[in-house]
Amino acid sequence: MAGSKVVLVTGASSGIGRATAERLAARGHRVVGTSRRDSPGEAPWTWAVLDVTDEASVAACVAGVLASHGRIDAVVNNAGLVMAGAVEDTTPDEARLSFETNVFGAMRLARAVLPGMRAQKAGTIVNMGSLAGRVGMPFQGLYSASKFALEGLTEALAQEVAAFGVTVALVAPGDTATPVVDNRVWAAGSRDPASPYAAACARVVAMYEKDERAGAPADGVAALVTAIVEGRRRGPRHVVGPLGQRVMVASRGVVPGGIFHWGMSRYFGLGR
Ligand SMILES: NC(=O)c1ccc[n+]([C@@H]2O[C@H](COP(=O)([O-])OP(=O)(O)OC[C@H]3O[C@@H](n4cnc5c(N)ncnc54)[C@H](OP(=O)(O)O)[C@@H]3O)[C@@H](O)[C@H]2O)c1
Repeated sequence: MAGSKVVLVTGASSGIGRATAERLAARGHRVVGTSRRDSPGEAPWTWAVLDVTDEASVAACVAGVLASHGRIDAVVNNAGLVMAGAVEDTTPDEARLSFETNVFGAMRLARAVLPGMRAQKAGTIVNMGSLAGRVGMPFQGLYSASKFALEGLTEALAQEVAAFGVTVALVAPGDTATPVVDNRVWAAGSRDPASPYAAACARVVAMYEKDERAGAPADGVAALVTAIVEGRRRGPRHVVGPLGQRVMVASRGVVPGGIFHWGMSRYFGLGR
């Protein structure tokens, strides 16, 4: 295909990453999809092993793609995990895992591909944020914190590399129906019945799971990412997902903070 790009998609074994790799490959791009496991299934793209929390793994993966294809035109930093649990119950090591995956993972990939992108004076980096990176979600505080951090990192990086012809964008999906429901990582303390948060946490996370199961198809996110990679959609931040959730997040900018907080607490049945 004319304009075919070499695209590295992290976390292509499941959910949004898989849908994105599928759509990009169907449009004729040369896709390298990653998983921590070796070739986790038949796919119309090349698999590469990658653990984004491991610097050596990132370096080896990027070197492998460059050796095979000679260039990397775009990276979709999709790999991520959703961490559940009360902030007080979460240990620093558990918190670190959320940030190592969702923030430093994306940063590692960016640092690894940027020298090549700067040299070729072109490239696109798409970071997978979340609406939870716009609104602090109770009992998913470490997930929200990591996605808020990714927003700031993306916005700063986009400005730093623009002069080199590199585009950086963040995509923030709302609830999307993917296997994330089964892949949620828990702060162990919040599953201990002795935790003062255990009951509320279980109840609120069950609400999240219900919304995720009924979420939008992953292909909607994949279509948006593909349009960014192909230069058909421009801009640093993109929101995608169920209308009600997009309105809720947008209202944050106009509704007074106290009222927004009150509404959230009422919705989740929290507070006194
Ligand atoms: N689903 C939603 O409602 C939703 C909403 C907003 C944002 N998001 C974001 O969208 C992205 C994808 O989520 P999803 O719903 O598609 O989840 P998913 O089905 O659980 O897929 C997660 C992917 O990330 C990979 N991964 C996890 N840890 C990794 C690590 N340390 N190194 C490399 N790869 C790793 C997994 O690959 P392996 O296990 O094969 O290594 C898997 O392919 C995440 O960043 C998530 O935060 C999802």
